[in-house]
Amino acid sequence: MKKIELRRFSPDEADALADFLSGEVWPFHGSGRVERADVARRVAEGYYEDEETRTFWIVLDERPVGIVRLFDLGDDTPLFDLRVTEACRGAGIGTQAVQWLVSYLFTELPEVHRIEGTTRQDNVAMRRVFRRCGFVKEGHFRQAWPDGAGLLHDAVAYAILRQDWNTGTVTAIEFDDEA
Ligand SMILES: CC(C)(COP(=O)(O)OP(=O)(O)OC[C@H]1O[C@@H](n2cnc3c(N)ncnc32)[C@H](O)[C@@H]1OP(=O)(O)O)[C@@H](O)C(=O)NCCC(=O)NCCS
Repeated sequence: MKKIELRRFSPDEADALADFLSGEVWPFHGSGRVERADVARRVAEGYYEDEETRTFWIVLDERPVGIVRLFDLGDDTPLFDLRVTEACRGAGIGTQAVQWLVSYLFTELPEVHRIEGTTRQDNVAMRRVFRRCGFVKEGHFRQAWPDGAGLLHDAVAYAILRQDWNTGTVTAIEFDDEA
């Protein structure tokens, strides 16, 4: 697998981002479709870049193949959105991107002590990426994720702790903590 590069998105690349996001369907994101005008508006509003948000292109062979948006960076538990273009999925790019963002956040932001991500229960690829990258399933939310047709899916939440990332360990969860 070739190594990806992560390049900081700049708001003057709004057209390129609109091309990228509107160019295909994203089955695990809301209705799945992204309108160009919405991307332009969000760029102008700071949705991709502001004091608590940073966005990066995932670049392979000088081509954009994905997007990583890191947000809630003022919090001690940031979140992220990850999208890899359909033609490039299943080749290890998502795994590399999450490994990169975990290292980036724990290195750049000393106050961050955990990183969280939530996905739809049937997003098998994303769940596999979480596990491969050391995230642990912490939550399961029944019928919490409506799709574009109004069908309710379960949602699953994963997180990685700084201490586990540092030491290569997995801190156990006390799920059965009631008498
Ligand atoms: C989820 C996503 C980011 C994963 O990125 P990716 O580059 O496809 O992931 P990888 O190639 O690193 O694959 C990771 C694992 O998932 C498995 N996988 C990939 N696609 C799969 C699929 N459709 N079904 C089942 N397993 C799949 C891979 O085989 C791999 O497993 P392995 O480690 O056992 O070999 C990407 O598929 C994507 O952008 N999907 C649409 C957007 C999305 O759902 N984003 C997440 C929103 S929360």
